[in-house]
Amino acid sequence: MTSSTGTVVVYGATGYTGRLVATELAARGVPLVLAGRSAERLAAVAASLGHGAGVAVAEAPLDDHRALRDVVSRGAVVANCAGPFARTGEPVLRAAIEAGVHYVDTTGEQDWIHRVLTHHDGALRDAGAAAVPGIGFDYLPGDLLCHLVGAPLGPLERLDVAYHLEGFGMTRGTQRSALEMLDGRDLVYEDGAWGPGGGRPPLRAAVVFPDPIGRQTVGRYPAGEIVTVPRHLDVGTVSARLSTSSVLPGRLSGLVPYAAPVLERVMRTPLKSLLDRAIDLLPEGPPEDGRRAVRWTIVATATAVDGRVRRGVVRGPDVYGLTARTIADAVSVMADDGYDRAGGLAPAQAYDARATLDGLADFGVTWGVDAPAAASVDGVPATAEAS
Ligand SMILES: NC(=O)c1ccc[n+]([C@@H]2O[C@H](COP(=O)([O-])OP(=O)(O)OC[C@H]3O[C@@H](n4cnc5c(N)ncnc54)[C@H](OP(=O)(O)O)[C@@H]3O)[C@@H](O)[C@H]2O)c1
Repeated sequence: MTSSTGTVVVYGATGYTGRLVATELAARGVPLVLAGRSAERLAAVAASLGHGAGVAVAEAPLDDHRALRDVVSRGAVVANCAGPFARTGEPVLRAAIEAGVHYVDTTGEQDWIHRVLTHHDGALRDAGAAAVPGIGFDYLPGDLLCHLVGAPLGPLERLDVAYHLEGFGMTRGTQRSALEMLDGRDLVYEDGAWGPGGGRPPLRAAVVFPDPIGRQTVGRYPAGEIVTVPRHLDVGTVSARLSTSSVLPGRLSGLVPYAAPVLERVMRTPLKSLLDRAIDLLPEGPPEDGRRAVRWTIVATATAVDGRVRRGVVRGPDVYGLTARTIADAVSVMADDGYDRAGGLAPAQAYDARATLDGLADFGVTWGVDAPAAASVDGVPATAEAS
């Protein structure tokens, strides 16, 4: 990716992820405006970066539209790291559209990604600005891998993506966003159309991950690829799965598929705000050594309409560190004068898929795609909807 000297506004720079993003950009010498709702907390982050002149701070609460638009206007790109995005996304994106400034964010919330790519696409094009939500572990590597696996096969019957995590500890921010994602408003993409995913019966299926992970029980995952992949591939159905052991260890993991429908109902009651407040009592997020020790693997399996199957794998470490790295890479591309894309975009529409994944090699990200083959891997269907 190209580096640029354009100013970047980091909104939500005081959070666990926002601080990692600010640290990564400051280390690259990118001029920064750290923005958020508390000048005092922002000043503390700026001081910790030790960059003096290159780092400004600006208080701009979400309900002060003029302040928000003024601060966003100071950048070539705004990186929104303040979640949950169901609450914070709209005002920051609206300010970016008014200012004609490119927008990226760290969201993992499928509903918000869908809103950016559908409701805001026209206004973004009119403003000549691009908005790419979900730049981070969720869902940049998965979306790019799906593109690299599926595009050469031509029209696809389906694209199945599956996630597996080892050692993952969530931040408070991720837990709050997870509450937003569990309320049953998620989408499915089947037979060429999006439809409601909530209220479906529990799903227990199996996916064969590469060695040494092997066969894993998986459940439904309301992932971003369900809304992003049909934007850049001609595909009938997109499914997303998450291994149950990624969520709960040991024998408890068997409960995960059955917990989802119960949680959907709970999230529509006042218990949701109680849970939200309970999250405040938890630690902010994993310590640095725990964060770096996380390992993740994403498998994408494309099935062409003529029956050929192609499978790809991307894997790497450190979910939150990767998110900071990919945000910094993305804003560097978009802050460049030559960047001319506009609209609500999936990662594979906004960036070169191969160059972007290759560019993460020094972070420990590896990826590969098999040659097209018959529909099984080691005699076991790559995605077996069973059990
Ligand atoms: N896609 C991925 O793989 C990925 C990776 C990392 C994070 N994320 C997402 O990024 C988001 C942030 O995560 P995190 O771990 O950094 O959470 P966090 O530590 O809780 O930080 C949240 C940030 O949002 C700000 N914020 C929250 N509500 C706000 C409001 N009403 N007005 C203004 N600012 C507000 C907070 O500001 P204050 O300091 O003023 O409270 C803080 O800067 C979450 O949605 C998380 O799911 C996704």
